[in-house]
Amino acid sequence: MSNIPIITVDGPSGTGKGTICSYLAEWLHWHFLDSGALYRVLALAAEKQGIDKDDDVALEQLAENLNVEFKVAEAGSLVNVLLDGEYVTEEIRTETCGNAASIIAPIATVRKALLARQRAFHQTPGLIADGRDMGTVVFPDATLKIYLTASAEERAKRRYKQLKEKGISANLRGLSADIAERDERDSTRSISPLKPAEDAIVIDTSKLDINTVVANISELVCKRIPGLPKTGG
Ligand code: DC
Repeated sequence: MSNIPIITVDGPSGTGKGTICSYLAEWLHWHFLDSGALYRVLALAAEKQGIDKDDDVALEQLAENLNVEFKVAEAGSLVNVLLDGEYVTEEIRTETCGNAASIIAPIATVRKALLARQRAFHQTPGLIADGRDMGTVVFPDATLKIYLTASAEERAKRRYKQLKEKGISANLRGLSADIAERDERDSTRSISPLKPAEDAIVIDTSKLDINTVVANISELVCKRIPGLPKTGG
């Protein structure tokens, strides 16, 4: 593997992964792979084309030919996601799409088809990779591996708050049940299950505010990769 550095951030949703990865990518001016978005776009494309969630062959073909683009409008802004040239940035963020992504994610041929696409993000000057299996499977030689975790209850509360802030009605109990179900599916699947790499640094964010998590991770990054630009905070 080349010596272009990679920082992997894995863990279930609601642990602060997205915020941490955006912060790191902006600070370091590195590339950013949101691997969950790839699985979400695939699920959306399957739905649009009427492909069944258990049609392995059609899903594999779809994954191989998926016309997906990630566009960064400006440094620090949200990464826009396009499917067949159309903006789907918001559409892929729904709970329904997240669940659909989690249902097709265990299919071996789908994961294989998306592997090269994910590895293609590994370009100079460096990569921040966000997902479930970044440190275990996609980038096993990463420079620094972080695994974020938090209690299911806390993650459901965070998600509830996020949705409310966006003006989307939500039900805390329903969200908790969805989170528990998705965790179970993501961590018990036989291929690339959600789990920390053996050499990952595990951080439980249940009782930490996001600024503390950012500060802790920035310190780890500076220790592991010398000569980086100064952090913003
Ligand atoms: O991180 P996310 O919520 O956007 O991911 C959506 C689903 O995609 C997640 O529940 C499981 C799947 N996924 C995966 O299997 N492997 C990844 N590296 C990222 C996501």
